[in-house]
Amino acid sequence: MRVLSGIQPTGNLHLGNYLGAIRNWVRMQDEMTGDAQCFFFLADMHSITVHEGREQRIRNVRDMAAALVAAGIDPDRSVLFNQARVPAHAELCWLLNGTARIGWLNRMTQFKDKVGKDREGASIGLFVYPVLQAADILVYNATHVPVGEDQKQHLELARDIATKFNTDFGVELFTLPDPIIPRESARIMSLRDGTAKMSKSDPSDMSRVNLTDDDDAIVQKVKKAKTDPEPLPETAEGLAGRPEANNLVGIYATLSGTTADAVCAEFAGKGFGAFKPALGELLVETLRPIRTRFMELRTDDAALDAILEKGAAKAAAAADPTLRAAYDAMGLMR
Ligand code: TYM
Repeated sequence: MRVLSGIQPTGNLHLGNYLGAIRNWVRMQDEMTGDAQCFFFLADMHSITVHEGREQRIRNVRDMAAALVAAGIDPDRSVLFNQARVPAHAELCWLLNGTARIGWLNRMTQFKDKVGKDREGASIGLFVYPVLQAADILVYNATHVPVGEDQKQHLELARDIATKFNTDFGVELFTLPDPIIPRESARIMSLRDGTAKMSKSDPSDMSRVNLTDDDDAIVQKVKKAKTDPEPLPETAEGLAGRPEANNLVGIYATLSGTTADAVCAEFAGKGFGAFKPALGELLVETLRPIRTRFMELRTDDAALDAILEKGAAKAAAAADPTLRAAYDAMGLMR
């Protein structure tokens, strides 16, 4: 078993990242026994698809490293690094560009969402983004990839690329990875629109809860979250067709380790005037310790760089045999 996942170091860690992915990373790390290792990385090579100045990019990588450690990733037990420090990712991506098909990439919904109508103006990097993601996973022969629902299609593509490469070159080199998607919090939605994903690219900061938000800001965002005038139903079934209510109940259920049915049973017949303060408090209690650790960790750049360098050395050693085997399978001398 080998666990691997990544996050783009652009902007803040938000509640969607935390509940959809990072909490699962920490859980899987904590459940690992023996020599088994988890690999977690900052996808800074992916983040070049969003323009950013040099200083900001450096800050973003350190901040996301601090956020992951604050959230519970232990760099002594897991391999924590940034992609740019491990060139094997980019190298394997190039090799896999010979295997991936344009038709496959044309079907990627995230690419379509991101480019909107301006397909001709989009960068090539954005188009081949999922091939780099496949390389990230395949170069470590990862078996389990904990992600939110929105990454499922990219994982399927990684499996298709692995299968085609293995078949084309008559090898059993790449392992087919399985996505690990949480049941309750696979898709945390915007606080302003229950039909849109909570995302760092949403122009409205009120749409998301950030790891860096203070207690007051969290309470205010929950208070102002869009809802409907109906009271909470007795069971989760009654949330159908009420996306905002469904999202808030889902967040509450995930944070308190229970089910949407149990939350509905607890608040049945009550309005959001009663539910929102309870949710706000739960969020504040969950995020405060993480935020406090994050604020401390982000002041020590040298310590963060040391963590990432050490992680990168371990990651590079783990990636090298697969990368060599891929060159060899293709008849390329390295
Ligand atoms: P990124 O940086 O957009 O998001 C990081 C993780 O957070 C999850 N996530 C969510 N989950 C639930 N609800 C939401 N609203 C929400 N928003 C984000 C994402 O599903 C993801 O798990 N392409 C990836 C990074 C990546 C990667 C990889 C992941 C690069 N290489 C290899 C896994 C394996 C991305 O942009 O995630």
